[in-house]
Amino acid sequence: MDLSPNEVKILKALQSGTLSPSEASMASDLGEKETMSAASWLRSKGLVEISEKSAVFYSINNEGRKYAEEGLPERRAAEWLNQFGDAPVEDLPLDEDEKKVVVGWLKRKNFVELEKTETGLKLIPTGNLDETPDEPLLVLLNRNPIPEKEIGKEGFALLKGRQLIETKEEVDRKFSLTVEGKKFDIKSLEDALVGELTPEIIQSGSWKDKDFQKYRLDTHAEPIDHATLHPLTRFTEEIRAIFLQMGFTEIEGDYVESAFWNMDALFIPQDHPARELQDTFYLSEPASFVINDKETLNLVKAIHEDGGETESTGWGSDWSREIAQQALLRTHTTVGTIRYLSEHSEPPIRVFSVGRVFRREALDATHLPEFTQVEGIIVEPEANFGMLIGVLKEFYRRMGFPDVRVRPAYFPYTEPSMEVEVKFGDSWLELGGSGIFRPEVTAPFGIDCPVLAWGLGLERLAMLRLGIKDIRMLYQSDLQWLKETV
Ligand code: PHE
Repeated sequence: MDLSPNEVKILKALQSGTLSPSEASMASDLGEKETMSAASWLRSKGLVEISEKSAVFYSINNEGRKYAEEGLPERRAAEWLNQFGDAPVEDLPLDEDEKKVVVGWLKRKNFVELEKTETGLKLIPTGNLDETPDEPLLVLLNRNPIPEKEIGKEGFALLKGRQLIETKEEVDRKFSLTVEGKKFDIKSLEDALVGELTPEIIQSGSWKDKDFQKYRLDTHAEPIDHATLHPLTRFTEEIRAIFLQMGFTEIEGDYVESAFWNMDALFIPQDHPARELQDTFYLSEPASFVINDKETLNLVKAIHEDGGETESTGWGSDWSREIAQQALLRTHTTVGTIRYLSEHSEPPIRVFSVGRVFRREALDATHLPEFTQVEGIIVEPEANFGMLIGVLKEFYRRMGFPDVRVRPAYFPYTEPSMEVEVKFGDSWLELGGSGIFRPEVTAPFGIDCPVLAWGLGLERLAMLRLGIKDIRMLYQSDLQWLKETV
């Protein structure tokens, strides 16, 4: 008879008598699924019988799970008292809830004596730290539910008393050998088929005398559904839906841009530190773009040098076309916004974009050299700063952050400018910049009504929503984690 290595393991385990699936899994060192599947195969080959009865099983609730991992509060308290000496209950390194129940348990397990003092009860360790039956049981229950019949009575009573036990009805399965199975010559299994080719088998040459298991293509396997959307994709979809509902249209742009559109058109001075090599990724191929739009070039040049037709004095220094023509990876999505405005100057305008941007940041838990910005503008004659705050608050509210505040900030292209922060737990986190475009930005494109603009970070928001402390998690292909975040 052809038996797979897993089937052989189960058959061997069953030589000692009837076993539950979890016992069989322990004895054979196989996972639960593999154990079940091997047992079913053995049943179909007539060697194993599987009896099924519905039975009561016990497991533990969340509190129990916490204690299984950290230790029961009285255990932690007793250990602490034995190390640091007498103390009142308030001093114990426990949660407030744990403190409420711990004294009773410490006493009951004979871990402490109590002494009344003027300031209250004092706990004096007895020196006894003996394990009580509830402790090993808690650990077992944390691994697997245990059938009613198999549970240790004493430990169970203790855990049940403090409401850590959950009861459920499950199918209780037992594996045992059939008559045929008992007769089966276990010795002949010593040379069981090889299911896995190991380096040792190849190096030693022993593969020559071995029989290999054949693939069985008709084996039933449970389908595994592992396709899932990345959380950033899901958040992007959510953001799109929100802006579309708020009457915005989506725009897109390219990653490779000229400094002219990324910076000069936004009135970022040519000696601005953000332009430097350590902050911006410049391209070597192409190293530059020829910008042919003479008219726009001259308007922007004039704005930078002396303010041009606006009331501004500009930056007051010579403007270089070479610097403006450098090719780079866009450092913000505001470049897409200004390009859009250069072609659409008629209000009303409400557009947004969600896109990747690039900055030469050192990689750490809160910084990435590539990240995503959520950018948008509103161009309307009546638009004002209050409206900008209102729109951003509404956006964050819809994303699940009801508490938003703004702080004054500076960007070369907006006035007034602000930073938006959302509240998470006890702290405020900066999520993006915004403001109203300065005349130096809008004038060359003939826009004469207010442009409310913002650029918000997506990854930071995702960190808050997912409760992660390290931004790099978002770009690791850790499938298990990604699955859990769904
Ligand atoms: N571009 C800015 C940044 O990258 C954000 C911003 C966009 C600020 C629009 C004001 C207006 O941080």
